[in-house]
Amino acid sequence: MPRPDTEIDESPSGDAGPAFDHGAVSRFNAWFFTAFAGYLNHVARDHKQQAFSGLQPGASVLEIGAGTGANLHHLPTGVHLYAVEPSLRMHDRLRRRCAAAGIEVTVLPVGAEAIPLPDASIDEVICSLVLCTAGDPDAVLAEVRRVLRPGGRFRFVEHVAAPRPGVRARVQRAIRRPWGWIFEGCDPHRATPDTVERAGFSEVRVERRRLRHSVFWPVNTAAWGIAVR
Ligand SMILES: C[S@@+](CC[C@H](N)C(=O)[O-])C[C@H]1O[C@@H](n2cnc3c(N)ncnc32)[C@H](O)[C@@H]1O
Repeated sequence: MPRPDTEIDESPSGDAGPAFDHGAVSRFNAWFFTAFAGYLNHVARDHKQQAFSGLQPGASVLEIGAGTGANLHHLPTGVHLYAVEPSLRMHDRLRRRCAAAGIEVTVLPVGAEAIPLPDASIDEVICSLVLCTAGDPDAVLAEVRRVLRPGGRFRFVEHVAAPRPGVRARVQRAIRRPWGWIFEGCDPHRATPDTVERAGFSEVRVERRRLRHSVFWPVNTAAWGIAVR
């Protein structure tokens, strides 16, 4: 495994890839995903329990799009977390929450399209609500496969395009521009399960299931899954 302090550039000025700060919009997102973490974890509780259960103590875990740390409580003890997070506004809160949870973290200020970790160096990759937002989800999944060791798992929970034509699918398409502006690139109508299925993993399990009782009706269509390298 790479040593966090010696081989990895954690500085935003490093040349590993595009970090960003969109000013007020990025501040809003850092606040929103902290303030609503409890609620979002509640509505996605079943999805996250299925996707993230079985992480082993001491495993090397990479979270892509770690945000402000919504998934830290799913990590077992003794984990060193590598957290890819391009939004610089998320970092302070993420570091504080890791410290409070006693989790050692290396924050990587890059997009997951170019992850500055060696091939086959990670046991588990996790994410929630990220493939909806990343600029190039195919490139992200190619990088996830590259950094996973053979047999390593990619575990994800995502809101996805409504599977059938209908009112929700139409609304998801209609709100794309404003939604994407507010949530820094998030697309409410992405066929993420298809993207994972064509990414070249040896096994893929994907289950589509609506989030329960969410007030965020347009993006209630969701999926969780586990893909094995
Ligand atoms: C909807 S938020 C979800 C944050 C967190 N995972 C959660 O569940 O609360 C999407 C996150 O993906 C990050 N993100 C955006 N583009 C990304 C990329 N290309 N690679 C990795 N993360 C990205 C955003 O900065 C943001 O933190």
